[in-house]
Parts: sequence; structure tokens; C-alpha cells
Amino acid sequence: MSEVKEIFLKDYKEPDFNIESVNLTFELFEDETDVTNIMKIEKLDNVSDLVLDAGELELKEIVLDGEVLGSDRYITSEETLTILNVPQNFILEIRNKIYPQNNTELEGLYKSGAIFCTQNEPEGFRRITPYLDRPDVMSVFTTTVIADKEKYPILLSNGNKIHCHESFDTRHGVTWHDPHPKPSYLFALVAGDLDFITDSFTTASGNEVELNIYVDKGNSQKATHAMASLINAMKWDEEKYGREYDLDIYNIVAVDSFNMGAMENKGLNIFNSAYVLADADTATDANFMGIESVIAHEYFHNWTGNRITCKNWFQLTLKEGLTVFRDQSFSADLNSKEVQRIDDVKALRERQFVEDASPTAHPIQPKSYISMNNFYTATVYEKGAEVIRMIHTMLGDENYRKATDLYFESFDGQAVTTDDFLWAMKQNGEFDLEHFKLWYDQSGTPTLQVTESFENGTYALTLAQKIPNKVGGETQKAMYFPLKIALLDKDGNEILEKMLIISKESETFRFDDLVAKPTLSINRDFSAPIIIDHQGVDYPFLMKHDQNSFTRYEAAQEFAGQSMFKLIDGEDISEFVDAYGYLLDLELDLSYKALLLELPSITTLMQKQEVVDFEPLYEAKEKLSMMIAQRYETKLLELYTQNNEPNNSELDSLSIGRRALKNRVLTLLGALKSEKVLTLAKEQYDNTVTMTDKVVALDVLEMFEESERVEAFEDFYNKYKNNTLVMNKYFALLAASSRDGLLQRVQDLQSDAVYDEKVPNLVRSLIGVFARNYKYFHKKDGSGYDFVANKIIEIDKFNPQMASGLAGAFKIYPKMNEKNKNLMEITLKCVISTQGLSKNTFEIVNKILK
Ligand code: BES
Ligand code: ZN
Repeated sequence: MSEVKEIFLKDYKEPDFNIESVNLTFELFEDETDVTNIMKIEKLDNVSDLVLDAGELELKEIVLDGEVLGSDRYITSEETLTILNVPQNFILEIRNKIYPQNNTELEGLYKSGAIFCTQNEPEGFRRITPYLDRPDVMSVFTTTVIADKEKYPILLSNGNKIHCHESFDTRHGVTWHDPHPKPSYLFALVAGDLDFITDSFTTASGNEVELNIYVDKGNSQKATHAMASLINAMKWDEEKYGREYDLDIYNIVAVDSFNMGAMENKGLNIFNSAYVLADADTATDANFMGIESVIAHEYFHNWTGNRITCKNWFQLTLKEGLTVFRDQSFSADLNSKEVQRIDDVKALRERQFVEDASPTAHPIQPKSYISMNNFYTATVYEKGAEVIRMIHTMLGDENYRKATDLYFESFDGQAVTTDDFLWAMKQNGEFDLEHFKLWYDQSGTPTLQVTESFENGTYALTLAQKIPNKVGGETQKAMYFPLKIALLDKDGNEILEKMLIISKESETFRFDDLVAKPTLSINRDFSAPIIIDHQGVDYPFLMKHDQNSFTRYEAAQEFAGQSMFKLIDGEDISEFVDAYGYLLDLELDLSYKALLLELPSITTLMQKQEVVDFEPLYEAKEKLSMMIAQRYETKLLELYTQNNEPNNSELDSLSIGRRALKNRVLTLLGALKSEKVLTLAKEQYDNTVTMTDKVVALDVLEMFEESERVEAFEDFYNKYKNNTLVMNKYFALLAASSRDGLLQRVQDLQSDAVYDEKVPNLVRSLIGVFARNYKYFHKKDGSGYDFVANKIIEIDKFNPQMASGLAGAFKIYPKMNEKNKNLMEITLKCVISTQGLSKNTFEIVNKILK
């Protein structure tokens, strides 16, 4: 890579021009697309030239105020089109050709199978037509789409349909108008032969909104859950945030080839079909929940993202962090609050904590980037959501609502910054949001060291912050955050619960008039995204008595983790095995209980290792599972039978809870690798009507060499080979295998008739899952690294975004043991020296190697 350009926040400049309106016409053909772009432009600053962003476009004609421009009036470069000497106000018409059928990057206008669709965030629009492709240029769009009538009966764009053109023989056209000014990244277009379902929603002020979900032919009955989720989301945003929808129509289109999960284009969301399509036979409970939350997320962007958007891409967390917090709150309200919180924290720790401890760590508001595509990260999203959650915690429900009302009132229709958001939050609380702002600028996860003492009835709690250095070594400051704690007496009763505000490097909080030393329950509800370092905790006591569902879960997890490290050191862990029996007997919400019984993931354990080595972790986890399964086999089987309902595919919380608990039990029993478990898993596979049960049964069967495994997988393949969404699960199950010889099997699966390297979902399922199967990815002969690196190089040539995503698996590099580290280094150096490597992949690999 010779000329990689790094973009800095400090260099941000307001735009020199405004595009008041844009009129687009697309003539879609099989081998090319003709684009006509007519912009009404106003000069804002004293400059002479207009510099438009432009991808690899074939320019046909440029007309300024009716005059065709000769080649002396403009300059083209690889990334720009400069129109020289433009007047104060003018109409610029540009005609160009693009080739969506050859667009493998899936950015701009491209084809997913037979469907034309777009993905323009963050910088895809410039691949469609020259434009000021930046979020602070907001314009009114009118779009005409013209295509073959038979192949593309459905023609969609943003806003309302204002005109149909039926007069072109075998072709037809539709014109759409979106009255809300928007940045180009929210532009969308779809053309295809699609089925759809339709419904409607009446807003609080009485506007009737038409709702449509478009899917591939034959799939419409699988969109009903998505539709119900959309209606729930619309209702929730009215009730919780006072936000109504603002167009007459809301369209969602599902496509199979999509780099991400979904996109909030104004009035025309485009979704990865994995987040739309579901029925009991093909989708797991987790898929149903995922659809609900992604549908809501994209809907919520209508206010947090679209009506109020980002001034520049460094502000991404302004819309994403806030919208993730909103979708998490929505899911918590609709389902189980306690389970939702634990799942969200789990996801944060699995992805964001790992990122925050890696060479790619960055603040939720990054200071520079090479490829913006690389900054749609767990940090910007999940840590960003935690930051909003802390604000909500400090303000309380009522003041938070007042503050968000003020935010919407003050900035509607504008492109703003996280400072503007914080300004609105500040008007309604006495918290030091100036100090709090460090969360936007610092990276790394703070650790809070806890020491306690008790003397003469006074309990002293000393909390010291350890803030990691920036990548590069610079020190960072102590943070400001809410910390919810409780003190329990010796019988486990709550003496008090309190929200502390932590603001100093070290601080002692005193609690007087106590009869005995209390037990501390700390970071209740995970009130701050930090690591707690507290030695000598009585975990069994907290597992029994803590009334906070989060910290109770945490106690079980910490105790299990600690016990696994003891196992590695050959120490006795019977105390944990005893305590586990206590959990088995608890009468609790079943989904919550299933979480309590889960042993910590390898990813969480690895974060506690100074130098990472996976083998002992896998061994310890296997051994502990085995000890539990042996000791409690009868009880586990009993729980299994009590909760096994093979004919029930209902989605109420009891049914979901039963499946979750029963499947947790089956997974645990799997450690026995016994004939009995093999039979149980095979029976579950054969008899169930739900995908949830099938997937868990297959996951257990995958450990066995026996014929039952082969039979079940063959059956699964034959039944679902025409359903790519289920095939994603098939590949993921096989790539997550613990059986010997995995790499060879994964290599062979690439030539399976169903596998297609051009479909991101399939690549994520096979290669992505393999790269997170540490046992094989980090194999000490380097074969895992080698395989994944070669895939990255190969995929980078046609889809850089997908390639740089895969490169994330190497983030752990600096923490690995010498042997793995050396192997990784050789491999990464080979990747980075590849001719023509994309800036996306370059940026990630370069950071890792530094
Ligand atoms: N705006 C994003 C989609 C996006 C992501 C565009 C990356 C360009 C690059 C969308 O709102 C989003 O956040 N989607 C998430 C799912 C969501 C539920 C967190 C995604 O696609 O992963
Ligand atoms: Zn989003």
C-alpha cells in the first residue's frame, strides 16, 4: 500500500456547498445502469471549484445551467470529480454509467441474486453518481427508477410514490419523492420480482402508515414475525420517546447478499434476509429475538440517525450507540429484562472487551480512520450504548426523557455531534457530564480495584480506578461513572442499595452503624462497563442471596471461572461443584436459570490470562463440565425430561425458557460423551418441531464419531439444502466442531454445492466461525492461521469489507504466547505485503502488527 490516506477528526471542515435538491433517474438494464443526477446547488463559501466524491464511474455528460461542459471545465481523479469555476447558484446535471451486476463489494448499487439493491452507508453513494457524499450535506431526493416490467415489477426508493410510468412498452417506471432532507448515505433503491406482506399502523396523531415487507417469491409467510416486530417498535417509540413515524409508507426489503445486518434508509430499509425471515421450522428462538431487535433498531434510526444525523463519521456513536441502547431497552421491555441485560453484557464482553484490550482499541468517538467501514465496531456500538445507558442511569427515567425531548426539539433536521447530544443531556441533571465526556475520548476498559475494611461498626469501601494506557502508550485519566452497589447482612438480607458516583482515581466510601462486616454486591445491573477486581469474594453466598439478577449471575460466572483456573493448577474445586447443585434446584425464570447454569465462555476466560494459551482453558472447561455432569447426571436428566416439549413451538416466555433450560442441560450432559447422551441428542433431533432444538441436538451430536451424527447431519442437509438461512447454521455447526481433522473438513465444505463465497452470510458461517474456533484457528502448527489468512487475501480482492471483518480474528495477537505470536506475525506480514491489498484490510492488519 503506497498512498493510504488517514482522515482526522481535527481536520473536519464544514461543506463549501449545499445541495438543496437532487433528482435522480435510473435506467436499469442487465449489463449496465444509466444514472442521471440533477442537483440544485448553492455555494456557501468563497471558493471557485466544486469537488464531488466519485467512485469508479463512467462519466457520460456534465451540464451546468444548461451548458454542456467541455473537458477543460472539469477534472477527474480516482476519487473525485472537480467542476471548475462554478457560480453562486446553479443546476448541475451529471450522466454516468455503472455496472451493478459486477459490483462484488456490495456497496453502492449492486445485485443480490436477481434483485437490484443499494447499500450506501457510509460512502457507497459515490459509487452510484458524483456527489457530496458526506452526512452533513442534506438534500431532498426525487428518484425515478425505470426497468423491465416483467423482471422488475417492484420498483422502490425512499419516501412516497408520486408517479407511475406505464408507457414504455416492455419497461415501466416509478417516481419516488422523499420530502425529508437527508444525507446520501440514506438513499436507497430496489428493483425486483418480489412477494410482499402488507399491514398498517396508525400513529398517535392519527396518520395511517402503510407497512410493506418485500421478500423473495414464496417467502412471504416467513415475514409475519418481522411485521409484528415493526408494529411493536412503532408503538414503543411513541410511548417511550414520544416519537412518531413521519411518512405515509414504510418499506422493508430482504436480500440474501448483504455485508451487514440491516440498513435504515429513509422509508426503505434494506435487510439481510437473516433478520427478516423466520418460522418455527427454520428459525431458532434466538433468531426470532434477533429479528425483533434488528427491525426495531433500524426503525428507531428514523429519529436517532435520520431526522437527526451525524455531522461527520466520527460522530457515528451518536446514532449507533444511542440506537443500540434504544433497541436494547425495547427488547428488555418486550421480553425478560434480566435475561436481556445479561445477554447484552455477555455480548459486550465477548466482543467489545476483547477489542478494547487489543491493538485496534479506539474510543467510541475515534480520532482518525483510514476506512470508515472498519469503524462499525463493537466499541462504537456496544460500548456506545453502555455510555448512553450510564447517562440514563444518572438522570433517571424522567429527566432522561426530558433531555431526549430537548435533543429532538433542538436538533431536528440537522447533522450534529456527540457534544450537541451531551448538551441536551446536561440541561436536566446535576452530573458532571464534562468529566463524563472522557468516555467519548478514551479507549480501553477501566478496572476498578476493590478493597474493604471493617472497624467499630464502620465498613470502608475503597475503590481505585486502573485506566489502561492508549494504544501507543499515552496515559489516560480516571473516569466518571455510576456504580450501583448493595450491602448484605450475614443472612443475605439487603441492608442498603446505593448508586455511587465514581469520579476519582481512588476514593473510600464509609458506611456506619453496622453490626458486622457486610457482604458487597457490586456493579449491580452492570451499571458501568468496567472490570471489577475484587479478591476474596464469598461467591456461594452471593449466588444464594443476591437479589440483583445480574450480580447473582456474575457471582456464579466468577466462581466458575476461578474454579477452572484452580483446575488448571490442579487444585480442589469441590466447593464450586457443590454450589452448582444449589443452582440446579433454584425455582427461577427458566431462561434466567439457563444462563445461571452456563459455564463461562473460553473468550471470557482468556481475558483473565496474562499470556493467552487456549489449550488449558479448553481442557479445564471440558473437565469441569464432566465433573458437573457426572455428579448431577440424575438431576440433569430429570430437568431435561421435565422441560422437554418436542411438539411445542410457541414463542411465549415459558416455552422459550423450557427450551433454553433443557438445551443447556443437554449441552452439559454432552460432556459425558456417553451412549445415553448420544441417544438423547438423536431423539431430540428426530422428534422436535423447532429449529432451536435441532441446532442444539446437532451441536451435541457433532462431538460423536458414531453413525447417529452422520445420519442427523445428512438428514438436515437434505431437508434444508434449498434454504440458505438454514444452511448458514449447517456450516456454522460444522465449523465450530471440536472433532479432529476440522481444517480439512472446512476446506472440503467450500466446494459444497450450497456454499458460495460471494454471499457474506455463508462466509461468516464457515470461515468466520472457524476463525473463532480457537482450538483449530490457533493450532500450534500454524495451519489455522494460514488457511484464514489466505481466505482474507482471496476475499479482499472482491469484497474488502468482508475480508477486513475476518482479519479481526487476529486482534488477539499481542496477548498470545510466544509460539502462536510468532506464527501469527509471519502470517500477518504475508497478508500485509499482498499486492493491491484494500485499505480496509490494510488498516486492520497494520494496526495489529504495530
Ligand atoms: N447503519 C447500520 C448499518 C451499517 C453498518 C451500514 C455498517 C454501513 C456499515 C445499521 O443501523 C446497523 O447498525 N446494523 C447492524 C445491526 C444492528 C441491530 C446493530 C448491523 O448491520 O450489524
Ligand atoms: Zn444502526
